Amino acid sequence: MDTLTAVYFSGTGNTRYITEYLLKKLSGAYESKMIEVTDTEKALEGVKNADVVLFAFPVYGSAPPIPMRNFVHKCGNFLSKKKVLIVETQYFFSGDGPATIGRTVKKYGGEIIGAEMFNMPNNLADCKAFPIKNGSEIEKTLQKARRRADRFAEKILKGRAKKRGFSVLSHAVGYYSQRKFWAKGESEKRKRLKIDENCVGCGLCVKKCPVGNLYLKDKRATPLGKCVLCYRCVNLCPKRAIRLVGSNPPEKQYRGPTGKN
Ligand SMILES: Cc1cc2nc3c(=O)[nH]c(=O)nc-3n(C[C@H](O)[C@H](O)[C@H](O)COP(=O)(O)O)c2cc1C
Ligand code: SF4
Ligand code: SF4
Repeated sequence: MDTLTAVYFSGTGNTRYITEYLLKKLSGAYESKMIEVTDTEKALEGVKNADVVLFAFPVYGSAPPIPMRNFVHKCGNFLSKKKVLIVETQYFFSGDGPATIGRTVKKYGGEIIGAEMFNMPNNLADCKAFPIKNGSEIEKTLQKARRRADRFAEKILKGRAKKRGFSVLSHAVGYYSQRKFWAKGESEKRKRLKIDENCVGCGLCVKKCPVGNLYLKDKRATPLGKCVLCYRCVNLCPKRAIRLVGSNPPEKQYRGPTGKN
């Protein structure tokens, strides 16, 4: 049986959820494993040894998260002639989300055998313009995503999977509608992480941040300036003390697809 390594980044669980679901659907054809992109050495080993590599990530302003971008360059030497699948998740729009990583894969000689984008629940808990949905709305969105994953898996197994987001038009739409502006403001946004006075120093955010951006100083969470905008801490803090891109403390938090984050 061929082996498949899925290297993923998932701030609040959506990408992990739909990737796990897809891999179950592919289990008759591939022996697969999932590795977090932040576990760099293990992920490099996984890419090197797999017959098929799957990259999975959410989009932020139609761009991939920084750890995913960096990793694809890091493993570039192992991508030559490698078969690659791409899973991209979003709230409602990215234009060319899968291709934002796919173009780099191609530069290193990888062969994209399928790419799909999945609409998933929103996680921008501090932005009033994008409210966090309730349980039944979330389930509806997940149901649609699972159906899309069923179709994607079927096509992969038949060797006829779509390469969503790779057209010239998708590229132009993704770039001009969002990424161009997002990229300009990205480093400024990373510095915006704000921890309010109601932080009680419980340490949860410190433990959960995927890039070790937080530590406790005088019993208060403090950022180190290397936030990658994943929104995990914003959605987890029991005191709702963390804000990032938006200006409001979260009224509601997103606890991931299973509601158990
Ligand atoms: C900083 C940030 C920017 C985002 N930008 C977009 C976007 O441009 N388009 C979109 O549809 N969703 C956007 N989203 C929503 C996420 O991509 C979406 O909820 C994704 O499924 C989250 O995946 P995760 O739970 O694996 O982190 C954004 C989320 C964050 C945190
Ligand atoms: S999770 Fe919230 S309360 Fe706990 S340390 Fe972090 S910011 Fe403070
Ligand atoms: S500080 Fe929060 S938003 Fe930033 S990378 Fe860490 S968990 Fe994600």
